Amino acid sequence: MTRKPKKTPAVLTEQQAAEELARLATEIAEHDRRYHAEDAPTISDADYDALVHRNNELEAQFPELRRADSLSNRVGVAPATGFAKVVHRKSMLSLGNAFEAEEVVEFIARVRRFLRLEDDEPVAVVAEPKIDGLSASLRYEKGQFVQGATRGDGTEGEDVTANIRTISDAFVPKVLKGRNVPDVLEVRGEIYLRREDFLTLNEAQAAAGKPVYANPRNTAAGSLRQLDPSVTASRPLRFFGYTWGELSAPLGKTQWESRQRLKSFGFELNEPAVLAGNVEELLDYYRSIEAQRGSLPFDIDGVVYKVDRLDWQGRLGFVTRSPRWAIAHKFPPEQAQTALRDIEIQVGRTGSLTPVAKLEPVTVGGVVVTNATLHNEEEIARKGVRVGDTVIVQRAGDVIPQIVGVVMEKRPRGSKPFVFPNVCPACGSSAVREMVDERTGEREKVKRCTGGLICPAQAVERLRHFVSRNAFDIEGLGEKQIQAFWDAGLVRQPGDVFRLQAKDGEMGAKLEEREGWGKISAAKLFAAIAARRAIEFHRFLFGLGIRHVGEATAKMLARAYGTPEAFLRAMEKAVDRESEAYADLLAHDGVGDTLAGAVADFFAEPHNRAVVEDLVAQLDIQPAAAVRSDTSVAGKTVVFTGSLETMSRDEAKAQAEALGAKVAGSVSAKTNYVVAGADAGSKLNKAKELGVAVLTEEEWRQLIAG
Ligand code: IVH
Repeated sequence: MTRKPKKTPAVLTEQQAAEELARLATEIAEHDRRYHAEDAPTISDADYDALVHRNNELEAQFPELRRADSLSNRVGVAPATGFAKVVHRKSMLSLGNAFEAEEVVEFIARVRRFLRLEDDEPVAVVAEPKIDGLSASLRYEKGQFVQGATRGDGTEGEDVTANIRTISDAFVPKVLKGRNVPDVLEVRGEIYLRREDFLTLNEAQAAAGKPVYANPRNTAAGSLRQLDPSVTASRPLRFFGYTWGELSAPLGKTQWESRQRLKSFGFELNEPAVLAGNVEELLDYYRSIEAQRGSLPFDIDGVVYKVDRLDWQGRLGFVTRSPRWAIAHKFPPEQAQTALRDIEIQVGRTGSLTPVAKLEPVTVGGVVVTNATLHNEEEIARKGVRVGDTVIVQRAGDVIPQIVGVVMEKRPRGSKPFVFPNVCPACGSSAVREMVDERTGEREKVKRCTGGLICPAQAVERLRHFVSRNAFDIEGLGEKQIQAFWDAGLVRQPGDVFRLQAKDGEMGAKLEEREGWGKISAAKLFAAIAARRAIEFHRFLFGLGIRHVGEATAKMLARAYGTPEAFLRAMEKAVDRESEAYADLLAHDGVGDTLAGAVADFFAEPHNRAVVEDLVAQLDIQPAAAVRSDTSVAGKTVVFTGSLETMSRDEAKAQAEALGAKVAGSVSAKTNYVVAGADAGSKLNKAKELGVAVLTEEEWRQLIAG
């Protein structure tokens, strides 16, 4: 048996890079949305930065592949609905990150190169703490506060004027102090909560039986983005000013001077700040702030360096989303030790089983941590984490905390290794780790519940898929309705959709009496459902939501097996991996271990078989386009190899299939014909070895013409 070459080429092809960039774009956009629109991120800042880093690396390598939705073209996400929009007259940008001292050295070197400075010309740089809140732009006209906006996507933010107005005058003066105030001034800075105010607020939340907030940043963001300003008013929000947007007259010649002007207008600044003369001073400042980090009254996640001279800032300009004249120097994540009370398994929407560490509450960087992710089974084994252990918890900024490791000296006697369950805690179906590579035995890291349709943790998501456009396509039955039917107990599995009308009114109110429904809409829905009782086989298959069975695969399987009955009979046998049925499944072109395994796992689960049988009994599933039996090659198995002259191999394959032949990818004793084009190699040899008929392209064409 030949080994597959390793699939990680050092140099990516353009195609691979494009695919990776597309994946990264989706992933990053989703994290942006969670962070900015929901104030509820699900990955660590460090992990997020790694994604961005990879994206930038690829974009630098393949500039022509930069996507229209590239994150280098935007900052944050478009504003959430509910607020009026504000178009920023000057974009609100973000900052590039440095983690290591060398990157700071490189930042200064880059500035010097860009400005072509003489070796002895000093570069003064302002350094201030990087506060972890949310940025806002406050507009003043003739000294009066007229508008407040969030950053949004950098170009357009939310109009939060009414909310910002509720912030104390000590932080957001409604009238600027002093006489020498520019006619137009947009002050930009960070809205934040002090740690102690955050803790007090959380105590009040807990006392009122309300959910507690994860950290000061999310709380500040959530407090500001309230449609009801009286809620904002009840939160002790504060504001630091650190830069500006539109301006009718400059504030000074330098950043430092401009800061002092902002202060004179009545704003608080990010302190302690320094004006440094060289890199060493910057790094000294960084270390001193890091040492003070815990004793500062607010959360910071690093420091920010800004070239002091504003004329230089102007020349340096921007690289898409961040200025060349500034950089954030981030702190490493914060850590603490605590006891691991339990490991709980949570089931995600796609059936993934995620172990969550239940911790003895501990404060990490001012935030109370009670849960941390353990990622997956391997991760638990790798770290050797046991219930009862003292573990090191790490939090980077405002993240889901991670468990870094175990303090072995503190391991209690008699503790036992954690045994990851083999069944889904939500539905009891077996949980498996899919095979990635049969030869090496490599499996996916994540264990998944195979309960699919019956698992309550996955059910709503699956039902949505079942009625979606490329599956059953039932009009009037969207995400919202499915969720409502689920909550009301009306639809718990796909077959229930087709019983809705017959059972209408048996479980509480009739549909037409339910909220959001009327006589007409209910009748319409029932009609739409009835119309779908007759369904094409491949739509039915796709609708089941079997892992790895996308539309194309569903079509292929439908064609290969013809009727649902034939398919189900075969799949019942294919559950046994040693069976001929499983080998047959694998023999289809395009079916590999992953797909065959996923299909077999699905049908191995009695719940899933019951769901499918229930549907088959209720529906009129139309067989795949009839397989022809009246041609010279009907029922024959053909293998095409080498390059053909008159058509592509794909075309040859499609034509053969249309004539009722089966096209296989490899030669076996079951093969009837091998059609060999130019440069045919091992398959041709195998055919000769096995005595399989070998045809030239011309002979094949005569055969099918006859
Ligand atoms: S200056 C054009 N200074 O960090 C550059 N930003 O990660 C404008 N931030 O978008 C930003 N403290 O929301 C600047 N002292 C500080 C900051 C600061 C916190 C935030 C700001 C920025 C983000 C970038």
